[in-house]
Amino acid sequence: MANKIMEFRHVEKRFDDNVVLRDIDFEIEAGKFYTLLGPSGSGKTTILRLIAGFDQPTSGEIFFDGKKINDVPANQRQVNTVFQDYALFPHMNVAENVAFGLQIRGVKKAEIKQRVAEALKLVQLNGYGEREITAMSGGQRQRVAIARAIVNEPKVLLLDEALSALDHKLRVQMQTELRQLQRKLGITFIFVTHDQEEALAMSDQIMIINDGTIQQSGTPVDIYDEPLNHFVADFIGESNIVPGVMKEDYLVSINGQDFTCVDAGMKPNERVEVVIRPEDLDITTVDKGQLVGTVDTQLFRGVDYQITVHDIRDHTWKINSIHKTTVGAKVGISFDPEDIHVMRYNETEEDFDARLDSYEEDE
Ligand SMILES: Nc1ncnc2c1ncn2[C@@H]1O[C@H](COP(=O)(O)OP(=O)(O)OP(=O)(O)O)[C@@H](O)[C@H]1O
Ligand SMILES: [Mg+2]
Repeated sequence: MANKIMEFRHVEKRFDDNVVLRDIDFEIEAGKFYTLLGPSGSGKTTILRLIAGFDQPTSGEIFFDGKKINDVPANQRQVNTVFQDYALFPHMNVAENVAFGLQIRGVKKAEIKQRVAEALKLVQLNGYGEREITAMSGGQRQRVAIARAIVNEPKVLLLDEALSALDHKLRVQMQTELRQLQRKLGITFIFVTHDQEEALAMSDQIMIINDGTIQQSGTPVDIYDEPLNHFVADFIGESNIVPGVMKEDYLVSINGQDFTCVDAGMKPNERVEVVIRPEDLDITTVDKGQLVGTVDTQLFRGVDYQITVHDIRDHTWKINSIHKTTVGAKVGISFDPEDIHVMRYNETEEDFDARLDSYEEDE
């Protein structure tokens, strides 16, 4: 990795007998925007706490700038955290909140004043220094919390569900602002969310976690287009997930019907799962469809129609199409070979890489 700032090697975290993180392995490149995405209880906050030094791993190693930091106390790490509830001091005004960390470290008054002013400017709160925290709106408090963290010039900024307390409109606005701020500062952000749209919109890299295990990491496009397993396909975006049999390379059978696809490297007749995104399916006439079914529902959404169709085996397909149809009509469903995405059951990243290598060698 070009400019590695942090690494987890085989990190495990247990609370008594409860394994909360298992074999967590990842590398973080300096200056990028990372998102940890996963459902409630999957272990996201626990990972942040290990990075920040509020907790220690049960086993495994954490490196920062090439040095092992398992035993380095939180206040000596070049990391700051923005907490979900912001954790601001209610009895201090905005500037005092932002100045707090610098004061503790004994930074001179004049420098504190200047750095606080700069930080407030970065989060678009110049002129708000004297305001009481209690007189700030939710979105403004959120910005104060970010200013309080970046004023310390950390190498890595951790943000735990930092936007989830905001209403939708403000949240979308803050997503853009945060992303711009990250580019401007050039520091590494590790952002935690359980919102997949937020993760896709903001990140350079996403790590998807479920049940204490990283399921997949990659760019938003990688993860959306090439989900490694059922969990990822289901968690990211909408999808049709159906069982299938990989008859041979580039030929998969779904519902007893054979389709050409672009996947290879499985065993002959291996059982697989097939993912097709709703936007890759289209409604056509019965004679032109690769699948045939009856329209159950249709919902106009402004840009397209959200349609469901059940096929002759009673499987329901989700289709997003710009073509209008009629509830109760018999229709064809069409798609291209590259829209079929074949996954192994519970394939890991290593399995996937090995499969890719083996079939690239064959070519
Ligand atoms: N101090 C602790 N003692 C015991 N169990 C804990 C402790 N902290 C976390 N856990 C457990 O570890 C698991 C992961 O918790 P964590 O807070 O990391 O989840 P999360 O992904 O951040 O979830 P959420 O989206 O709800 O914030 C949960 O099952 C939680 O109950
Ligand atoms: Mg959490």
